[in-house]
Amino acid sequence: MLSEKIKKRLEFKLQNTRLRQLIAGEIVALLAEKPDDVNTEEYCMTVAELVVGELKAKLCRPFEEKPLDSGEKEAAASDQATDFDAVIKRLTTGVEHALLAGNLQMLRALGEAIAQRDTGTSKHSPRVTLLSIALAEHLDLDTERIQALIKGSFLHDIGKIGIADDILLKPRGLTDEERATMNSHPQLGAMIISSVSWLADALDVVRHHHERWDGSGYPDGLKGEGIPLNARIFAVVDVFDALASDRPYKDAMGFDEVRKEILAERGKYFDPGIVDAFDQIARLLYNKYMGKPYHVLDELVRHAMETHFGAATPIPL
Ligand SMILES: [Fe+2]
Repeated sequence: MLSEKIKKRLEFKLQNTRLRQLIAGEIVALLAEKPDDVNTEEYCMTVAELVVGELKAKLCRPFEEKPLDSGEKEAAASDQATDFDAVIKRLTTGVEHALLAGNLQMLRALGEAIAQRDTGTSKHSPRVTLLSIALAEHLDLDTERIQALIKGSFLHDIGKIGIADDILLKPRGLTDEERATMNSHPQLGAMIISSVSWLADALDVVRHHHERWDGSGYPDGLKGEGIPLNARIFAVVDVFDALASDRPYKDAMGFDEVRKEILAERGKYFDPGIVDAFDQIARLLYNKYMGKPYHVLDELVRHAMETHFGAATPIPL
């Protein structure tokens, strides 16, 4: 039998490798069967060749087949390519799903943290995301744009992380200087996420959600359709949610009052086309989402993310 010392050395060499996870069981089983009268080194070499040979046969078969007649060749190539492609696809899909699920979890956690610090409630984050998704679906936007909108909705105010509490939490009466600092949050947010390639498509919302249709917004004073579409959509739902919910410094408005405020900004603050589309579903969304507890909103947003990203988001957060 193989000595304990050699077994341990082999285990040490293989530890923390993917190879070990995949084939260690088989290798150890083969090594454990070494007859006492066989040289250990030779036996190890034989086992290694056997394992490598089997792996090669499984993984490299399409590249080493002997010449076949044309019919056999076509069928074999097709089968092998299908097998090989299927394995690679399964592996990459698994990895991609795991990464995506992790990213989506991180997105929700970050969104909640930002909303909690700024508005004192976690509900703002899932609710504006749900409102954005509903409006985007109503506008029949494509999947990629909706995915970008979801990311942007969660992270729209991430720049407020860099705003000091005495300014961020001041209910009213900001000085000009304080207002300028507060209004720097879209640029700050854009800077924070700019190094994350997966969030590149969230930049439209993060940087431009305070632009105004008439060009009087910030940070870039963009006007009309010069403002990215996702930012125009998000601006409407963000203000709708702010007006319709309680904040530490104000009570929530009722639906009719909120609707009136939004319509009054049609063509000024907001894109008139977006306001018209939102107005068609606003009552329904108000009844569906406003006043709902966090766990209900969170469950709904998780389901919506699964739908639009095609990935399972693990439970719990
Ligand atoms: Fe903002």
